Amino acid sequence: MAVTCDCPMSQPGPTLAATCGGGAFMLFMGLLEVFLRSQCDLEDPCGRAQYRRHMDSVYDFIVVGGGSAGAALAARLSEVPEWRVLLLEAGFDEPTGTQVPSMFLNFIGSSIDWGYTTEPEPAACLGEKGRKCYWPRGKVLGGTSVMNGMMYMRGSRADFDSWAAAGNEGWAYQDVLPYFLKSEDNKQIEEMDQGYHATGGPLTISQFPYHPPLSYSIVKAAEELGYPTRDLNGETHTGFTIAQTTNRNGSRLSVARAFLRPAKHRANLHIMLNATVTRVLINQTTRQAYAVEVRNSFGGTETIFANNEIILSAGAVGSPQILQLSGVGSPEVLARAGVPLVHKLPAVGQNLHNHVAHFLGFTMNDNNTSPLNWATAMEYLLFRDGLMSGTGISEVTGFINTKYSDPSLDNPDVQLFFGGFLADCAKTGMVGERLDNGSRSIQIIPTVLHPKSRGRLEIASADPFEYPKIYANYLTHPDDVKTLIEGIKFAIQLSETKALKKYGIKLDKTPVAGCEKIKFGCDAYWECAVRMQTAPENHQAGSCKMGPRGDPTAVVDNLLQVQGLDRLRVADASVMPAVTSGNTNAPTIMIAERAADFIKQRWLGATTPPYPLGNGGVSNVLQAADSTQYMTWQRWA
Ligand SMILES: Cc1cc2nc3c(=O)[nH]c(=O)nc-3n(C[C@H](O)[C@H](O)[C@H](O)COP(=O)(O)OP(=O)(O)OC[C@H]3O[C@@H](n4cnc5c(N)ncnc54)[C@H](O)[C@@H]3O)c2cc1C
Ligand SMILES: *[C@@H]1O[C@H](CO)[C@@H](O)[C@H](O)[C@H]1NC(C)=O
Ligand SMILES: *[C@@H]1O[C@H](CO)[C@@H](O)[C@H](O)[C@H]1NC(C)=O
Ligand SMILES: *[C@@H]1O[C@H](CO)[C@@H](O)[C@H](O)[C@H]1NC(C)=O
Ligand SMILES: *[C@@H]1O[C@H](CO)[C@@H](O)[C@H](O)[C@H]1NC(C)=O
Ligand SMILES: *[C@@H]1O[C@H](CO)[C@@H](O)[C@H](O)[C@H]1NC(C)=O
Repeated sequence: MAVTCDCPMSQPGPTLAATCGGGAFMLFMGLLEVFLRSQCDLEDPCGRAQYRRHMDSVYDFIVVGGGSAGAALAARLSEVPEWRVLLLEAGFDEPTGTQVPSMFLNFIGSSIDWGYTTEPEPAACLGEKGRKCYWPRGKVLGGTSVMNGMMYMRGSRADFDSWAAAGNEGWAYQDVLPYFLKSEDNKQIEEMDQGYHATGGPLTISQFPYHPPLSYSIVKAAEELGYPTRDLNGETHTGFTIAQTTNRNGSRLSVARAFLRPAKHRANLHIMLNATVTRVLINQTTRQAYAVEVRNSFGGTETIFANNEIILSAGAVGSPQILQLSGVGSPEVLARAGVPLVHKLPAVGQNLHNHVAHFLGFTMNDNNTSPLNWATAMEYLLFRDGLMSGTGISEVTGFINTKYSDPSLDNPDVQLFFGGFLADCAKTGMVGERLDNGSRSIQIIPTVLHPKSRGRLEIASADPFEYPKIYANYLTHPDDVKTLIEGIKFAIQLSETKALKKYGIKLDKTPVAGCEKIKFGCDAYWECAVRMQTAPENHQAGSCKMGPRGDPTAVVDNLLQVQGLDRLRVADASVMPAVTSGNTNAPTIMIAERAADFIKQRWLGATTPPYPLGNGGVSNVLQAADSTQYMTWQRWA
């Protein structure tokens, strides 16, 4: 069972038994873990990127944060053999259990989750303890892509066109599409819209191997309501789909696994784990960023210098936090925290936003699908198939227009998510889904795609290990509430279609605590319900907003450079001026792909204009360079 090789074993991380809370089925979960670890593609002891105990003191590029953006960016930069690249990640390597798609929720609240909570919310999460909403974020190599729902969703054409229309030249849909294609290796390309997909990239995309029968019925139900089943990453963004996901043969493909493991032999890429960046050092005379301070895994603080650039990819919470700790931000915020001002940029941490949702509970007749038991486990271990190889009905999603959204714009205002049929913890069969009386519970989760409420984030002190204060301000704009209520009505309509009626699907009409006095189902009731039981999505964005030079609300320019400073960029979900309409992993990887090309453009002296680059831009740079020297690059470009 043990695989021998000369590279370090993975960090064990939280075990499945631990993430299921122990209890009566600990033995089952423990044994399952042993079997999973014996599977070479899941444990991957020899394929994992090597990481170091000691780093050098100077690199050409330092990437801060090894998440969706940082892992892709570090891999792309290290394609240039003479660039010495350092990737710094606060967490450890991916635990084996995270490789099982059906267990994606298990790791929320575990040691690979930063586990942020917002400050008390004024208008949302009112039923939560202290009115605080919970924000899971990955603290692990691969970042949040290690614990996400794996759905591959790019966003609508209108999302990117509106970024460009706001003054961000080079970010229109036609400019960013080549960068989605650059990452992609679509295993079902012949079934997808022509001209919108690619093969050969590091990011393997396909549907899960297994679909619960209910998944097909949900898309049929949507068809009854006039929403076709289609490729939502293609020509049209409105409709439903059994989504393609970032899975490779039924196991999770985190961005680290996709991009960093193939780069493990590159001597010019150093990866440090358990290494938390505490601030960026900026030369006040030249306005250039030149070093980072890192808390290393021996508990000491080191200063590591960058010859060329430092790129923050610490995510929508981490990147603005590091900027503020470095003295870049609002003078008032920094003064309160006791951090000396280095560069006034009040927009840092502002414009923080996220999709917002509400969970509707339903019961349905239990059609006797097998729970997590040995048969299910063997099906996964032997064939990478069955309930464990997918996320249950969370694989289904749809984009609809409420009465507030013009369908002709193909820019839907509500996305529907679904929950149920997860084989995660043997302890409860299926996470409390199976009720005693022969029925099971599922959820439909309408989500507001273009939230108008805006929050902000501020460091609480100069201590880099103290979590920042997050003011999400969910549902403070009345339009967000109105849209969410229309989404709820659609979800209920969907449950009443012929396709779903046959399952005996029934809305759980137990009133939400705190809303008992309002007539169930009227708008006032739903408003109360969404404010009491708010479900933040996990698509935090916007806190280092991209905007034209001189825009006081912007942190970075369209080349992702921090405004007013040099040699410092931000590349992750925080630069989105407005969050995309959909899940955010794919667009964040796209942002990293673009950042890599902007950087190559600057430092390799390419003659092409900085945008739009496209794949054409990449080959232009290649022609300008010595072709043999850049062979590695070409292989990955
Ligand atoms: C439960 C859940 C489900 C989701 N489902 C989906 C889905 O199905 N599809 C989808 O597309 N998206 C989904 N998302 C969202 C998506 O995964 C994220 O938007 C995306 O991963 C964000 O990428 P990022 O690079 O901005 O940040 P992250 O991936 O969070 O990366 C930031 C990295 O920086 C590190 N870091 C932070 N601070 C420091 C520091 N000071 N020093 C060193 N390192 C640091 C962090 O540890 C982390 O690894 C989901 C998210 C969650 C939480
Ligand atoms: C800042 O840059 C100037 C000009 O290059 C240089 O003289 C000075 O030593 C630098 N300061 C630091 C702290 O690196
Ligand atoms: C991680 O780093 C901390 C100090 O920052 C140290 O105390 C701890 O032992 C390290 N863990 C491992 C497994 O190296
Ligand atoms: C559920 O069970 C019934 C009766 O056994 C069967 O007719 C029906 O097709 C099943 N539904 C699904 C979705 O499998
Ligand atoms: C998927 O995994 C199974 C089980 O390990 C293996 O038999 C099969 O060959 C794999 N398929 C692919 C396409 O890699
Ligand atoms: C089973 O119990 C749930 C919750 O108590 C209830 O909503 C549902 O209607 C019941 N189902 C049947 C078939 O009795």
